[in-house]
Amino acid sequence: MEALELADFERAARDRLPAEIWDFVQGGSGAERTLAANRARFEQCRLRPRTLVDVSATDQGLTLLGSRLETPIGIAPMAYHRLFHPEGEVATARAAGRAGALMVAGIFASRTLESIAGAATGPLWLQLYWLRRRDALAALVERAEATGFRALVLTVDAPRIGRRLRDARNGFAIPAHVRAVNVDQAVMAASHRAGHGSSGIADHAKEQFDPTLTWADLAWLRARTRLPIVLKGILTAEDARLAVEHGVDAVLVSNHGGRQLDGALPSLAALPEVAAAVPPNLPVLLDGGVRTGTDVALAVALGARAVLIGRPLLWGLAVDGENGAAQVLDLLKAELDDTLALLGRPRLADLDRTAVAPETPDGRH
Ligand SMILES: Cc1cc2nc3c(=O)[nH]c(=O)nc-3n(C[C@H](O)[C@H](O)[C@H](O)COP(=O)(O)O)c2cc1C
Repeated sequence: MEALELADFERAARDRLPAEIWDFVQGGSGAERTLAANRARFEQCRLRPRTLVDVSATDQGLTLLGSRLETPIGIAPMAYHRLFHPEGEVATARAAGRAGALMVAGIFASRTLESIAGAATGPLWLQLYWLRRRDALAALVERAEATGFRALVLTVDAPRIGRRLRDARNGFAIPAHVRAVNVDQAVMAASHRAGHGSSGIADHAKEQFDPTLTWADLAWLRARTRLPIVLKGILTAEDARLAVEHGVDAVLVSNHGGRQLDGALPSLAALPEVAAAVPPNLPVLLDGGVRTGTDVALAVALGARAVLIGRPLLWGLAVDGENGAAQVLDLLKAELDDTLALLGRPRLADLDRTAVAPETPDGRH
């Protein structure tokens, strides 16, 4: 397939995937306002190109929490990659390695942590949901450390699952042949049962996620690991400051790709206040709606050290496994390279707020 933009992968993936899996990937919660706003915000922003700068050597490399990366474009944690290709997260890990990109594996990965680590040639982080079963969580942390994962990403925007109407209408459940193999199967059973006007995903979270989690609980995780801890799902300066006070090592500005609180602000809109609220050396990452090299440059200019992509990676995986996922990453990297050159800011470090026009069409920044 000749793909010139990520939308080409999106169309091809839609043609290949069963309707209910397509809905599971593409969908957001409620009226999908936040899902749409994530894209709209990128589309509203404009870049301020500088001219007559030597751009013969562009460089999108960086160091993030001690790991060297060839690109600030990484892979967001997503459950069940085997819904998209039989090799699942192993294919994703190989693609990430080829691109020199960060991969964040999900707690509900459908391949073992050991096989993902075995396929990876670059840095891996592991995402966690706060399960009621603390013993299962503790075991995962121990295993992630033993397997060479380099950071833990705790998702904090999901005390329960958002109202994902497409999944509820489809009575969506994870098919029996795709399993979250790193977690005790007793903990996962509800994901595989079709709900009544609900989904297996939502019912499972209601049963297994601990909604009592507060800032005080972070000490429990901190005491159990030497790995850096990243909080995923921070959208306000207030929470960014609390994250710093509680000793986290990085924050990920995210609204879960519009899948949790519908009506929450778009990630790109939240980024400047979060970046301003944390010490300059604390990495801020962003996900939600990143679809082009221009989007990556905008996010970096507004304070992100790196961005993660969600759905586009799954489109690539659905289209052609490892190769499709690698092509998605390569396309975005090539677009970012062009953007850096045409913007007259050849290195990531050259991107700051002066690269973004202060007025967006809706009059806000
Ligand atoms: C199919 C799918 C599964 C996901 N599973 C998880 C998950 O298990 N844990 C998590 O923290 N985020 C999960 N996410 C959210 C992503 O990590 C990320 O925040 C979001 O997809 C980024 O937005 P984008 O898809 O617009 O790039 C999932 C997203 C999708 C689309």
